[in-house]
Amino acid sequence: WAAGVEKNDAGEVTIDGVSVSELKEQYGTPLFVMSESDFRARARAFKDAFDAAFADICGGVDVYYAGKSFLCTAVASWVAEEGLRLDTCSGGELAVAARAGIEGPNLGLHGNNKSDAEINRALDMLLGRIVVDSLDELERVAKIASSRGETAKVMLRLTPGVHAHTHEFIATAHEDQKFGLSMAEDSTEEAGLSAAEEAVAAATSYASIELLGLHCHIGSQIFEPDGFAVAAEKLLGFLAAMQAKYSIVMPELDLGGGYGIAYTPVDTPRPAAEIAQAMADVVRSKCAELDITPPRISIEPGRAIVGSTTFTLYEVGTLKTVRVDAPEGEETQENVTYPRRYVSVDGGMSDNARPVLYDADYSAILASRNSSAAPQLSRVVGKHCESGDIVVRDVYLPADVAAGDLLAVPGTGAYCWALSSNYNYLARPGVVAVRDGAARLIVRGETEEDLLNRDMGVANV
Ligand code: LLP
Repeated sequence: WAAGVEKNDAGEVTIDGVSVSELKEQYGTPLFVMSESDFRARARAFKDAFDAAFADICGGVDVYYAGKSFLCTAVASWVAEEGLRLDTCSGGELAVAARAGIEGPNLGLHGNNKSDAEINRALDMLLGRIVVDSLDELERVAKIASSRGETAKVMLRLTPGVHAHTHEFIATAHEDQKFGLSMAEDSTEEAGLSAAEEAVAAATSYASIELLGLHCHIGSQIFEPDGFAVAAEKLLGFLAAMQAKYSIVMPELDLGGGYGIAYTPVDTPRPAAEIAQAMADVVRSKCAELDITPPRISIEPGRAIVGSTTFTLYEVGTLKTVRVDAPEGEETQENVTYPRRYVSVDGGMSDNARPVLYDADYSAILASRNSSAAPQLSRVVGKHCESGDIVVRDVYLPADVAAGDLLAVPGTGAYCWALSSNYNYLARPGVVAVRDGAARLIVRGETEEDLLNRDMGVANV
C-alpha cells in the first residue's frame, strides 16, 4: 500500500484523508488512485540510496525513471522535480517528456526498433543519450546525426548473458532475445568478434557518434542483488578491455532497472539501500581489480518507484459461488467456507493485464465499509469475455461482500494503466493523484465518446 492509505472508523479506505466513496462519487470506477507524496518519496529514496552507496565511487548515480511503467505529464514533472531523469522508449513517451519540459541531459531514449522520426525527435530534443540496441541502429543513428551535422550521444545496450529470476540467476553463454548486442564471441559473422565489440569499434569510427558507455537491463521484478552484481562485473570487464584495445574512455555505465516490489505479503523485496550497497561493493572492487577509473553509474527503475504508490478502486457487481477444495497446501479452517466465490468487478484485464499475461498475483480488500462476516475464499474477476480475466486469483473477502461494495487492489502503479486496453470497448480508467488531502485527475478516464471517436462510422464504407 502507498503511504497515507488507512482505514477509517467506518471501515472505509482513505488515502491522505480522502475516502474512496468521495473518489468514486467524483470520478467513478474503475479508478487508479495514486499518492503523489508517496511517488515523490520513493523516487527520492531510490536516488538517495544509490547516491549514498556510490558517492565515493563515482560521486553518485543518475537515476532515470523508466517511463514505460507509468507515464503522464504530471508524473514526468514530479520525476524532474525530485532530481531524477526520464527514460523513454518511443516517440509518444518523448512527446509526454516534451510536454513536461524535460529535455537535454535529463532524457534518454530506448527501444529495439526506433524509427528515423524517433531518432530525429531525440536529436531535436538534444537528448542526453540514445541507447542503441543493434549494429543496424548504430549505423542509422550515425547517418542521421551526420546528415544534421550533429553528434549523437550513444550508449550501447549489451546482453551480458545473465538470466535473472526472482530468486536465482543463471549465467548463459549465448543470448536468444530481441534486445541488445550479444557479448558472446561468435555472435557475429566477423570471426572472433562479439556483436558488442563490433559495435564499440564501429561507434568509435563514426565522427557523428559520441560513445558515452555501456548499458544492460537483466530483467524485471528481481529481488536479489546477485544478478545485478554479476551483470555489473561482466560489463566492467568488457568496458576495461574495450578502453584498452581501442584507446578510448567510456565514462558511463547503466545497469538498467528491474528492482522488485511486494505485490502480496509473500513477496519480500530487498530495500533499495541494500541492493545499492551490494552493487556498489562489486563496482568498487571490480574497478580496482581492473585498474580503471569507475564510470559514472546510472540505473533505470520503474516499478520500484511507481508500483506501490497506486491502488485500483473497483465496484463489485455480480457474485456467484462454486464448490472447490481448499487451496493446495492450506488446511481447512473452521471459520472459512470453501466454496469459492466469484466476485465480479467493473474492470479487469483491460486495466490490469498482468495476471493474464504473467500469472501475476495481487491482493484485494473490501474498501467501502467494515464487515464482521467470516472470510470467504474469493476470486476477483473482471467483466471481459474471457475466463482468464482474473484480477485476484485467491483472496479471502468477507462473506457478505455484495454488489455496490468497493474493492481496492494495491500495487497497481506499474504496468497496469500503461498496458491498459479498450478490449470489449471498455473505457480506460482515469488516474487520480492525491496530495495533502486533495485529489486531482492527472489522466482523465475515457468516455464512450472517446471510444467512438476514431471509428469512422459509415462515411468510408
Ligand atoms: N530499463 C529497460 C531497458 C527496460 O526494458 C525496463 C523494463 C526498465 C528499465 C524498467 O524496469 P522495472 O524497473 O520497471 O522493472 N510489463 C512487465 C514488465 C516489463 C518490463 C519492461 N522493461 C510487467 O508488468 O511485469
